[in-house]
Amino acid sequence: MNKTLITTLSILFFWQNFAISSELSSPLEVLGDGDGDEDEIKQITLPDILRLVPETEIGVSLKTLKLIFESDRRPIIGQHKYGQSFPCNPEMLYDLMSQAGRKRVLEIAGASGENALLMGLAGAEHVYMNDIVPEEVNTFRTNVESQKPELRDRFTPITGDCFDLGEHIRANSLDIILARNIFHFLKPSQYDDFFGLVKGLLKPGGIFAMTVNSRYAEYTKPIDPSEGTSFSTFLIIFDENYETPKVLARATFVCEDDTKDPLSYINHQVFNGFKIDEKTLNNLPKSLHETIKEYIKKVSQRKGKLRVLENTSMLFTPENLHVLVASAGLHVTSTHHINKKGHYISEKTAKNKGANFVGLMAQTPKDEK
Ligand SMILES: C[S@@+](CC[C@H](N)C(=O)[O-])C[C@H]1O[C@@H](n2cnc3c(N)ncnc32)[C@H](O)[C@@H]1O
Repeated sequence: MNKTLITTLSILFFWQNFAISSELSSPLEVLGDGDGDEDEIKQITLPDILRLVPETEIGVSLKTLKLIFESDRRPIIGQHKYGQSFPCNPEMLYDLMSQAGRKRVLEIAGASGENALLMGLAGAEHVYMNDIVPEEVNTFRTNVESQKPELRDRFTPITGDCFDLGEHIRANSLDIILARNIFHFLKPSQYDDFFGLVKGLLKPGGIFAMTVNSRYAEYTKPIDPSEGTSFSTFLIIFDENYETPKVLARATFVCEDDTKDPLSYINHQVFNGFKIDEKTLNNLPKSLHETIKEYIKKVSQRKGKLRVLENTSMLFTPENLHVLVASAGLHVTSTHHINKKGHYISEKTAKNKGANFVGLMAQTPKDEK
């Protein structure tokens, strides 16, 4: 037997075993962590997702999925300001891959594009993968180039600002758009343009799926939506050349109600020598003053500069994200709390244990275009 045949047979054997073992534990099963606080949301497993790709693509799909299924987050290559790349959202990915057959798909801000690759392997007609960081898109390109020739043509990497995607993709030509963890970096003044882009590229009835940072943040108790605009940022120390960033802390802030656009207040704010004068402080929302003073006191003995990083991000609840998307003219079909591993979790678990992300699925109106 030659080596390729042995490898293929081993993969098939592996897959069959996966299929059998996961039939025993059906994806419909109620899952929990054994502490009596079981979550009633069904969780999609890795074999569930693998069943959505043709047998010929199992090997490469498994390899790709292993990189992102319940994986650790990792920094975006060389671009600290763009945060991290996160594990896939198995339930969302399953939903999209189930519908991807012969469809035209775009992933916005997909980093190295494993989700996009999997939608292509599940049979999409064409998949565009966009990110602004060239090194991330290059990883995707390399992965695409290592595919069989008949698969390679299915994918188009697009490096650049997502707001320029209209220059690369025809209007009303896409069936599915996925945008994970980009929207929360936008300023409220950019929301109309973002939804305009999504609606303009999708066909009538096209699917839009997104995730954003949650207010039910990882290490903090849920923030009451009535408290005002909520956002988080990293406080970072840089050396004199701004080259070796060291994250001090992730801080969650709630702005006063009259602060419509918190990002414009604190973006790129530099505190020389860990001092902040009254004038600079007064330019920041009052709700930040105590926190900023506290951090500056903590690091005042250290050399370097402190600044609030660019990737300040808004925090959302399923409810306020739903309102935003619906008011942009999309029909919201579902919203979800999402945990650190990327899985959908119930409202109860989100409230008791926290949630990292909010997920949302929507459609463009069927009869408007
Ligand atoms: C927090 S990461 C999320 C990456 C990936 N979607 C995920 O959820 O794992 C944000 C991504 O957005 C990309 N990005 C930031 N601004 C962008 C823009 N204007 N257009 C396209 N991509 C952008 C970054 O390069 C980065 O890969």
